Amino acid sequence: MDRASIERKLSSEWIRSTITAPGEGLILGVELRETSHVIGDVTLQFASAEHRSGEIGWIFHPDYSGHGYATEAAHAILHLGFDQLGLHRISARIDSRNDPSVRLAERLGMRREAYLRQNEWFKGEWSDEIGVALLDDEWVAQHPEGVANCS
Ligand SMILES: CC(C)(COP(=O)(O)OP(=O)(O)OC[C@H]1O[C@@H](n2cnc3c(N)ncnc32)[C@H](O)[C@@H]1OP(=O)(O)O)[C@@H](O)C(=O)NCCC(=O)NCCS
Repeated sequence: MDRASIERKLSSEWIRSTITAPGEGLILGVELRETSHVIGDVTLQFASAEHRSGEIGWIFHPDYSGHGYATEAAHAILHLGFDQLGLHRISARIDSRNDPSVRLAERLGMRREAYLRQNEWFKGEWSDEIGVALLDDEWVAQHPEGVANCS
């Protein structure tokens, strides 16, 4: 992205700090507490009020990989989706070649539900997609101590 598009996004979709209606999404920067550096972002898209469904995503700077930061941030955004927004189902879509991302979804307890062959034209070739998801009762079962204070 060039500077102008970033400025446009900073004053529109990236500025949102609440999510209340379907179609809205949050993009949250993840800051490393020790240095205050922004090291990545996590997203939550409110897909449908009727089906109480949403989708999450994550992108982190490679210099900060391998510490569990993405897992911690993605877990926090699942908490937001299930416990604050009251979603029933949260899904994610992952390029099948993206092993770190698949492992991250597995650490979050997300189930593999689909394998879509050649459904996206990405960087000059067809890519396969893995669909993962988590339901609200599975999320609660992951937190026998209660979800209210999980982070
Ligand atoms: C996907 C992505 C966020 C994963 O990053 P990551 O560094 O593997 O994830 P985390 O920060 O959660 O770190 C987990 C890794 O650190 C290790 N780790 C070390 N300390 C840890 C801790 N306290 N807690 C959890 N994991 C820890 C884990 O074992 C894991 O390593 P492994 O996958 O080799 O087993 C990153 O690769 C990325 O941003 N890629 C580019 C963007 C992208 O592909 N986005 C997804 C599109 S679908």
